[in-house]
Amino acid sequence: MTIALPDGRRSEIAIGGRIRDIGKYAGEKRVFILTNPEVFELYGDAFPAGAAVVLLPPGEKNKTLDTVSAAVSRLIEEGADRESLIAGVGGGIVCDMTGFIASIYMRGVRFGFVPTTLMAQVDASVGGKNGVNHEGYKNMIGVFNQPDFVLCDTETLRTLPERELKSGLAEVVKSALIADAALFEYLENRLGDILERSKEVLDFIVERSLRIKAKIVEADEREAGERRKLNLGHTLGHAIEKLSDNAFLHGEAVGAGLALAARLSNRLGLLADGELSRILRLLTAAGLPVAVPIEIALLLEAAEKDKKKQGDSLHFVLNKGIGDSIVKKMSCGELRALFGDAG
Ligand code: NAD
Ligand code: GLY
Repeated sequence: MTIALPDGRRSEIAIGGRIRDIGKYAGEKRVFILTNPEVFELYGDAFPAGAAVVLLPPGEKNKTLDTVSAAVSRLIEEGADRESLIAGVGGGIVCDMTGFIASIYMRGVRFGFVPTTLMAQVDASVGGKNGVNHEGYKNMIGVFNQPDFVLCDTETLRTLPERELKSGLAEVVKSALIADAALFEYLENRLGDILERSKEVLDFIVERSLRIKAKIVEADEREAGERRKLNLGHTLGHAIEKLSDNAFLHGEAVGAGLALAARLSNRLGLLADGELSRILRLLTAAGLPVAVPIEIALLLEAAEKDKKKQGDSLHFVLNKGIGDSIVKKMSCGELRALFGDAG
């Protein structure tokens, strides 16, 4: 699969690629791998021979400029230059930071990803959003820059803790909800196989989710319109992550955000009762929260400060049945009133 942007930039996505395939993209270039200690322990043996390795500390709290700065120091020590290739091997946090570091290191070097979580395979590694958090606000500092390549090796998902697998599923459910009713039905029918990590089923859901994302990114790389749909569940999801001090994983917060958006869509007459029930049932079966112990007013207050706010309004994504969505610009007051009894 390829993401082909109107100005000719391309990003190659290989579903079924392997970590050692990084070498194929390097040519004569020296490879610098950014990863974290856990992923290095599991997959370091498969890194291409001769690649220099820079370890990033794990966790959302470390997705910061301080970590970026420390990684840049290590790249300088290791002798990375403008002709080097930087590869991020790991989950969404490694991918987000690697893309950002590669974009600013010596004003930009070539980079690619080997995503090793479901979250990173179906979402974080693709689409060119790279960035870090700032003072607890998600992804406040960052760039749009497409990786040269993404190697999705679903075999690596075998070692992923179940909670992380379920967290990644939230983004697959999101993709199905915004654009693919058949994928939603597939998830309903094959959830057991996903949780058992059937390679065939994992390859299918990764491919299907990425097709949706690729099409949207090709049409609207910089999120001026259509791409906002990819934020279904995220406006409140990010607020949940912030207010819970990251007690909820990203995907868990998104799951709860999807449930809140679905309830509101139902209240607005955009989603039938039966469809709302199916969404809540699938999220619950996938082990994702459909409610959080945080008042909706507090979530909206945090969302107001989020970067997606424009003036007094938020672009809130709503379900239009299952497999379609709309973006509605709503004031925070309007959202507060509407959520009055839909929260
Ligand atoms: P993560 O990167 O923290 O990875 C989860 C955990 O799994 C980590 O402890 C990691 O060490 C471990 N791990 C990774 N691969 C493993 C494997 N194969 N086996 C065993 N353990 C493994 O979390 P995540 O859910 O992958 O990513 C979340 C981040 O991604 C958030 O910061 C989120 O904002 C970001 N994100 C970005 C985008 C984007 O478009 N840029 C999209 C979605 C999510
Ligand atoms: N994760 C949302 C986006 O890539 O736009």
